[in-house]
Order: sequence, then structure tokens, then C-alpha cells
Amino acid sequence: MPHLVGDVNVGGHRPHTMPDFYITTAIDYVNGPPHLGHAYEKVLTDVIARVRRMRGDRVYFLTGVDEHGQKVQQSARARGVAPQQFCDEIAAEFRALLPRLDVSNDDFIRTTEARHKRVVCDLLQRLYDKGEIYKAEYRGYYSTRQEQFLQEKDRNPDGTWPELFGEVTEITESNYFFKLSAYQDWLVRFLTENEAFVFPKFRQKQVLEFLKEPLNDLCISRPKERLEWGIPLPFDADFVTYVWFDALTNYYSAVADKEPAIWPATWHVIGKDILVPPHAVYWPIMLKAADIPLPRGIIAHGWWSIRGDKMAKSTGNFVEPNAFVDSYGTDALRYFLMREMVVGQDSDFSETQFQARYNADLANNLGNLLNRTLNMINRFADGVVPAPEGAAEAAAPEAELRALWEETRAAIPAHWDGFQFHLALERTITFVSATNAYIEKRAPWKLGKSSEPADRALLVRTLATMAEALRLAAVLLRPIIPGSVAKIEAALGYTPPETDWAAECEWGTRLSGAKVAESLVLFPRIQATTSAEAAPKK
Ligand code: MSP
Repeated sequence: MPHLVGDVNVGGHRPHTMPDFYITTAIDYVNGPPHLGHAYEKVLTDVIARVRRMRGDRVYFLTGVDEHGQKVQQSARARGVAPQQFCDEIAAEFRALLPRLDVSNDDFIRTTEARHKRVVCDLLQRLYDKGEIYKAEYRGYYSTRQEQFLQEKDRNPDGTWPELFGEVTEITESNYFFKLSAYQDWLVRFLTENEAFVFPKFRQKQVLEFLKEPLNDLCISRPKERLEWGIPLPFDADFVTYVWFDALTNYYSAVADKEPAIWPATWHVIGKDILVPPHAVYWPIMLKAADIPLPRGIIAHGWWSIRGDKMAKSTGNFVEPNAFVDSYGTDALRYFLMREMVVGQDSDFSETQFQARYNADLANNLGNLLNRTLNMINRFADGVVPAPEGAAEAAAPEAELRALWEETRAAIPAHWDGFQFHLALERTITFVSATNAYIEKRAPWKLGKSSEPADRALLVRTLATMAEALRLAAVLLRPIIPGSVAKIEAALGYTPPETDWAAECEWGTRLSGAKVAESLVLFPRIQATTSAEAAPKK
């Protein structure tokens, strides 16, 4: 399959050799309900997927849950239910969150599904037959909490084990190992030749830094007596597959049977904590050893924290995304996540900051433009967008606004391609602000009271300009706040064409004659509070 990833189909027309774009998120552990960190990753991936679809690419978007392992087994036991039942319940919660966030995934994979287990077994068998997997005795310190063997270098300076490992015991056991170390030189070469494999670039450097130390072979099994809740090894039923080998394979197992082929992935979107070693070391080597093509790359985003501490279920320091959606609406949350976080860096989440951003950008700016546009067109043009009469003078406010639009639309694709969504939004909102400033300048409410023909013509021009500017801003906001944009477009009497994104961005008279809605309040202003309960109910 010719895989033309990275090509930008700016024209929006679908060429015959249409690039396939396959994007994935990490699959979440089901040992607790989703929090805002999980929600962020899904929204970020969704925004990338929506941008590509809007530009004419054929996109496949996968997300899902990671269901095997010690923690799930333990959590299920603690609740007195079978692991599968436990997984079914939590997986349903993760799945239910996606439509609430307006995430447009094409597929949702669970690692307990037959399609996944079969591919994991095929892959293990293939690697075993090739001599890439061997059995060996292993003696070492084992952390049950982290489900991993530890090394001397993991100890605290005083010889104790760091808190995060929980109880550590010395054990000896036979296990199966994957020949990771044999591929170390290859991986270093690969990363050196493919400088942009990991986004952002500084993270790729961290991977190479990690690879300066010799790699150990990877233990890929757990004896059944210690861990039952896993996929049995196809060549030795006394063992189950270790979680990472199982989990990483989801990206491939979800599409292994698809015709026409979807693999290789374009981007794996993950958090920085699971870049090294799982995604940047284990996964490329697993694929290479199995003669499966590698993904185009990995996007490693940062963490959301609260007052400086990482958001995590285990510490109770987290924001529950459903509650936020209940209080503020899906798009308010999506907007904030994309506007506030610089992809690749960390960000602190505070409700005060959320409310300030919401009021400034959505309520007072975009919402205000929408209200004014509908209101003025209803008051002065019988609710129908007028066609502007006569030519606008070159230096007139209309020409200035239009020039700003041309700059804005020209700058946005590069921001999108570089995953700089915060910058794309900043520019878009600057354009919305400029439109509001333009309206202040023209003061259509005054022009409407005048019976002078020149004022009437100017009024018509102003109404047409504000409606057009709002339509255009909405096009750029579509991947970020799709639900609200659909409502804005409906209120403007505008039906966007299916594919021709670039043409949609042309300033013109597409709205002339459109009947607009009487009113639409999308983002009611909120009184600053510190509790989501006091926010307006959507
Ligand atoms: N199950 C593994 C991933 C396997 S992928 C083959 C896992 N699960 S997780 O539930 O712990 O995390 C899922 C994703 O959410 C990861 O990419 C992780 O980085 C991300 N986040 C978890 N907490 C986060 C924040 N506080 N902020 C942003 N994202 C974070 O790891």
C-alpha cells in the first residue's frame, strides 16, 4: 500500500492516491474510572483526526482500553467480581466518555477481545519461531505494584525501594524473554535517520539518551500461578503475556485484518510517561523483529497537573471529566484543553483559569459575535443575510478585517501540522476579536437608525461582513469545537460542503440570502466560582 503520510492535501479535493491516516491513542488501564488526563489525550487525538478529515484525508482513529494485568486482577478480587465483569464495567465507562467529549473514533479496542488475543498469539508465535523469544531463569527483585522486576539502580541511596514500587520481594522464576538487546544498534540508527519519529523533538533526544545504556532483553511473560489475568502464551500455556507486549499490540491487532490495509499507523498519541521505554523502544523493536512496518511516529504529550501535582487516580488528585461536561458543556472543555496546553509540555489545571478562559474567549468573544450577528441581522435585515452593495474602499475597516483573515487562514495549516493548536486558536480568536472591534467601529445599531442611503449601504455591508467573518472563524474552529460550530453554521443558514475546506475559507458571499436563527446562546457567561456546581447547567 503506498503510504503517503505527511502529505498535506491542502486543496481539500480527494486525489486518487489518497493518503491514509491512521491515528491511535494509548489504551487506558481499566483499574479505575477515566480522569481529565485520559480525556485530554482523546480530545487531542480527535482534533488531529478532525483536522485531517476536514482537509480531505481518509482517517482511521482508534482508541480503547488495556484490560489485563495484576492491577485489574487485584481490583476485581477486591470488589469480589470476576476480572471480565470488572473490565466490562469500567470499559463501559471509558467508552461512554467518548461521545460526551465528541470524540470521533472509528474503532474502540479492548484487549480482552478475541480479535486482539488472536493477533497477540500470532505475533508471539512468529517471534518464537524466528528465535526472537527464549526461556531463561531469572532471579531478581520484583515490585507487585509496578508489575516489574527492579534493578539495583532503582533503589534509594539508603538502600530502600522507592514508595512507588510498593512491596518488593526477591523471587526466582522461569520466564520468556524477547531479544530486545539484539536490536539496540538498529534502533539507534533508525532514530538517528528518522529525526522526527518522536514529537516533540526533545523527547526523541531523551530516547537516544536512554539508548546509551545497554538494553536488557525484555521479560514478556508471567507464570500463571502469579498472574492469571492475561493472554496465555501460544507456545507455553503455563504462562501469560506480560502487559506491555499485550497492550502495545492493540495498535496492530485492531486493523490487522482490514482491507484495504490500514497499518502502518501514522501517529501514536501517548503521554510522556509511556514513551521510554514502551513506545519508543519495545514497540519499534517488536515490529522490526516481526517484519512489520513501523509507524510514521509518536506524539508524546505532557501531563495535566493540579497545583503542580500530576493528575492521577491513585492519588485522588484528579478532575472528573463528566462533571465538567455536565457543568460547562463538551466544547468548553475541548476548547480549554486545546487552548491551554502546549502539546508536548505540561500544564496545570485550575477551575479559575478555566472560567477566565471560557469567559474571555467563548462567552465574551465568540459568543458575543454570534449574538450580535443574529440580533443585528434580525433587527435590520428581516433575518436574512444581505448581499453587500458596491465595492469596499481599500482602506476601509472591511478591507483591514479581510486582510487579517487572509493572514490568519494562511498561518493556520502550519500550526495544525506542527500540533500547535494553542497558537491556531490564539490566532483564530484574535480574528474574532478584530471582528468584534470592527462591529464597534461600524456601530450597525446606529446605522440602522439612519435613513441616509449611504448609511443604509454601510449597514448592509456591515451585516454581510460580520456574518461572513463569523462563518470563516467557525471553519477554523470546527475541529476543536465541532458541536458548537455545527450550531453556529445552522444558525447562519450555512451548510458546509463535504470536502472542499480550502474553498470554504475563501472570503465571499456564500451567506447572501441565508435565513438566520432568531438567537442562539452557546456560551453563557459564568460568574467566577471555584465549584463546578455553581456553573450554568448546559
Ligand atoms: N495502559 C497503558 C497504556 C498502554 S498503550 C499501549 C497506560 N494507561 S493509563 O490509563 O495509565 O494512561 C493512559 C494514557 O493517559 C497515557 O498516555 C497517559 O500518559 C495518559 N495520562 C494519564 N494521566 C495523565 C495526566 N495527568 N495528564 C495527561 N495525560 C495523562 O499507561
